[in-house]
Amino acid sequence: MTSSKQEMLNKNSFFESEQTFDNGIEEQVMQLFASCNQAISIEKQIDEITDSWSQDFLNAIDSNTNIDLELLLEKFTDSKIPVQPSNFESYLKYIGNNVVAHSIHTSSPRFIGHMTSALPSFVRPLAKLMTAMNQNAVKIETAKALSFCEREALAMLHRQIYNFSDNFYNQHIQNNLSTLGILVSGGTVANITAVWCARNASLGPKDGFLGVEKEGLAAALDFYGYKGAVIIGSDLMHFSFDKAADLMGIGTNSLIRIPADRNNRVDIQALRQTVVNCQAKNLLIIAIVGVAGTTDSGGVDSLIDIAEIAHQANAHFHVDAAWGGPLIFSEQYRYKLAGIEKADSVTIDGHKQLYLPMGIGMVFFSDPHLAGAIEKQASYTMRKGSFDLGKRALEGSRPGMALFLHAGLKLIGVKGYEFLINEGIRKTQYMAACISAMPEFELLAEPDTNLLTYRYIPKRFRRVHSINQLTDIDNQIINNFNECLQKSQRQIGHTFISRTTKKDIKFGSETPIVAMRAVIANPLTTEEDIRAVLNEQIEIAAKIQI
Ligand SMILES: Cc1ncc(COP(=O)(O)O)c(C=O)c1O
Repeated sequence: MTSSKQEMLNKNSFFESEQTFDNGIEEQVMQLFASCNQAISIEKQIDEITDSWSQDFLNAIDSNTNIDLELLLEKFTDSKIPVQPSNFESYLKYIGNNVVAHSIHTSSPRFIGHMTSALPSFVRPLAKLMTAMNQNAVKIETAKALSFCEREALAMLHRQIYNFSDNFYNQHIQNNLSTLGILVSGGTVANITAVWCARNASLGPKDGFLGVEKEGLAAALDFYGYKGAVIIGSDLMHFSFDKAADLMGIGTNSLIRIPADRNNRVDIQALRQTVVNCQAKNLLIIAIVGVAGTTDSGGVDSLIDIAEIAHQANAHFHVDAAWGGPLIFSEQYRYKLAGIEKADSVTIDGHKQLYLPMGIGMVFFSDPHLAGAIEKQASYTMRKGSFDLGKRALEGSRPGMALFLHAGLKLIGVKGYEFLINEGIRKTQYMAACISAMPEFELLAEPDTNLLTYRYIPKRFRRVHSINQLTDIDNQIINNFNECLQKSQRQIGHTFISRTTKKDIKFGSETPIVAMRAVIANPLTTEEDIRAVLNEQIEIAAKIQI
């Protein structure tokens, strides 16, 4: 058979198989992709429905519905994909009843227990636009203007952190060999990326050795004469550093966690001593981490001291400012981050205190060439010298989240963010004052920023508590009480506070303390909301029998 005949046959069988489709299906599927008038009118109808749901969702005061998790999960147990395309209206009804109805109202002013809160209204139309454009920020061939827009937005925040000269930014902002920052999906990937850059830079190619990137960790440590490698920070470091240690091949046991003091800051003396010990053992210090806003309590490490220790040890200094980074916008509170400008790398989350949608983390570098240590090329794209952002990113395909970052910085601006940060801290101080004035509660630490930890003290323990004479058994009972209180409040769904455990530094007790954790970042939360959350806890507590 000639090759052209074979081609014809192949073509025919292709056409035959194509024609076996039921016309109805073809029409229905193609309809889903259409941009014609009819499709636009359907889109408008859908928009009307989803807009009204969004409004109801956004106006909800309660943080949640009280549906039981067991009941909810039973709604999602179908593992079969429908054979036929479905009708959008019935699907919409389905997600309305099952997903939207039981989603958490993260924008509720009384949902004050996590780092996720209300978003500015401009992000919703931008989200629609971003989805319509469907840019892929991995390479210039799929994200043209957006790649430059992303670099510009990152440069703006870089400048807010490091404040280098005009000349520096002119030289690097759109220079494809320079990386001022990398936009990633969140703080976890940002921290991993920072540690990855630090590891590769300290074990790079030298004298014929091809570097850790090509030859792996064991060969690199051997070549450089190290007995092992560690990452050092406080015991309040986010668990993303466990992931980083695991992925870097050093194991989580090589993540050294130094106890924090009663103000939730790493003990500087202990850090200094640990660095000396690691050096004496001939261990490579991949990075020393300072935390600017711990996940548990918002504490900020003494970054100036850590910078000095890292500098003396010739170690990479990374600041995890995923939560607290935006304090750099506040003239009043920026001093708490003093030393951040000395960091080799800094993580900031856009989807926390920059009030942007989920999926925006960033890592910034003081040396615009450091990220070259992780650069990869691919023959089909991302060639050397190209502007492709995916060359120096852990992620491959990536949505155009830069649009939100750019919009947030341009529309809210330095003064707008300053207002948001200052307000969060002011309201946290208000809540701390309320707690201190109420006999039912104990404030567990003075808030450093806008996270607050406290607990409920049941009536029968209040006298012993007031004279600092709670026993470990008492604390255990109070722990059980607080756990029960937090779970009940969550289940009822009117208001929400999260829960954590803390070492009892205050009284030196061995028993870890179960703490309520408030995060006050939602601009819509008022003092009245704060009182409502505390009063609801008192009401629920009155019904708990432990
Ligand atoms: C201090 C800190 N670092 C890193 C992270 C991880 O961020 P993400 O959840 O965006 O990955 C968090 C999250 O809460 C955090 O609080």
